[in-house]
Amino acid sequence: MNNLRLDAPAFHRNVAPITAVFAPWLDGRSGDVLEIGSGSGQHALAFARTWPALRWWPTDPQAPQRASIDAWRALEGGANVEAPFALDAAAEEWSLDGPGRPRGDDLIAIVCLNVVHISPWSVTEGLFAGAGRYLPGGALLLLYGPYKRYGRHTAPSNARFDADLRSRNPDWGIRDLGDMERVASDHALELARFEAMPANNFALVFRKAC
Ligand SMILES: C[S@@+](CC[C@H](N)C(=O)[O-])C[C@H]1O[C@@H](n2cnc3c(N)ncnc32)[C@H](O)[C@@H]1O
Repeated sequence: MNNLRLDAPAFHRNVAPITAVFAPWLDGRSGDVLEIGSGSGQHALAFARTWPALRWWPTDPQAPQRASIDAWRALEGGANVEAPFALDAAAEEWSLDGPGRPRGDDLIAIVCLNVVHISPWSVTEGLFAGAGRYLPGGALLLLYGPYKRYGRHTAPSNARFDADLRSRNPDWGIRDLGDMERVASDHALELARFEAMPANNFALVFRKAC
């Protein structure tokens, strides 16, 4: 047993519904997908298996998460999962320059799951700014997690979760879809789909203007 491999319990519950909701956008596609905040790496491995014509580029700013991604790659990775690299979405002008990074021109999507609510708003701003810089016209930014609508929680359990997040870090918290759309439009991205998911989560599909 390799104890570097992290096992995220939520992964086992959400991988099937997330795969199903992203399928219309990724089925039959080829090209590069950059994942931001890959965590354990289990989604990266699963998605790369589901879509073998895509080349998956997992990232995470934390070394134990990158070690986990690497350990899962060593155990189960196919040819289409690249080595993880450090990417801090809050860093001003985060960059894909250099070896071992995808070329922006080849990106068909950026994926970011369960990060926006559990990080400061500067991470969301950096995520959209980077998507605006790197995604070619028509490419996608695919997000998953809990969101508010019209300033209100969509379920009492999300309100409790939000309070818990803010008690752990006042800069964290469940974001409002309207705020997401506003920061998206600052970077030439438009909400193409908003889908309710199990356990009061949502999948968001943003598309870069052509
Ligand atoms: C709740 S975990 C989600 C992991 C994985 N995406 C999943 O759904 O299982 C949040 C992840 O966001 C990452 N993260 C936190 N701050 C970040 C930042 N500034 N830029 C990129 N990722 C960040 C953390 O390292 C962590 O792996």
